Amino acid sequence: MRRVKINKRNAVIESGSMTAAGEHPIGVFDSGVGGLSVLRAVINELPNEDVIYFGDQAHVPYGSKSLLEVRDLSVEITRFLINHSAKLIVVACNTASAAALHYLREAFPEIPFVGMEPAVKPAAEHTKTGKVGVLATPATFQGELYASVVERFASNVAIFQDTCFGLVRQIELGRLSTAKTEQILRSALDPMLAEGIDTVVLGCTHYPFVIPLIESIVGPEVNVIDPAPAIARQVRRLLESKQLLSRDLVRGKITFYTTGDNHRMGLLINKLLGESHPVQKARWRKGGIVKP
Ligand code: DGL
Repeated sequence: MRRVKINKRNAVIESGSMTAAGEHPIGVFDSGVGGLSVLRAVINELPNEDVIYFGDQAHVPYGSKSLLEVRDLSVEITRFLINHSAKLIVVACNTASAAALHYLREAFPEIPFVGMEPAVKPAAEHTKTGKVGVLATPATFQGELYASVVERFASNVAIFQDTCFGLVRQIELGRLSTAKTEQILRSALDPMLAEGIDTVVLGCTHYPFVIPLIESIVGPEVNVIDPAPAIARQVRRLLESKQLLSRDLVRGKITFYTTGDNHRMGLLINKLLGESHPVQKARWRKGGIVKP
């Protein structure tokens, strides 16, 4: 007997055989609200997809933690997203990608992953002065991923790095244009400008939220690279190649979780995305994540 049930989108699912995997959500995670810059691009590129966004605000910032610690956190968040039927996971965090992407692909071979790496390649291709600034967290700079990207694509380019100490925290507090945020950015960018950079790579997903401030500091001659649109196109390509694109014609549903304060995260989402969404709580317990 062929048993069928109708899912929420009226797609027919045959129980025990084919599942409408294309109608499952995309999982997106970050230490906090940084991944919203990637989520925004994913929604623009794939407006009909359902998405689960997970911000691990109990542990933000990831950038000053050890790569091993961030890897362990990333594994549990991945488990949580898979338990919530994620069909593809976007590691919307350069630090977690540096710490865990390779490991996650091996540990969860059934799930396609899209991760972040500092956009050194396009920067090296486009710079005219041969001098590029990269802003990222200490953990990202320590990871092998960054070293290999620089070695492969930027051997003929001078790279100037800065960790913008305290900037992630400012963005988590919604302080996008305060004097302190500006001072952090100026102390990173002024020495780079003095060296003659003409390109700035945003190697942390929190930083696109301060692009207006960065642009006001570096001026119109300097190109600021936000990798999020390219990441969203990669998500589309991967879903297409695995025949996992949603066939839905209505706008997808976005579900938010945080391990921090869900009301505060809701206010921040409003500020950063200009949309209001409820945010659900998730809790770390005995190394795993539960819903209260
Ligand atoms: N948004 C993250 C990144 O892209 C993490 C920042 C942090 O938590 O330190 O690296």
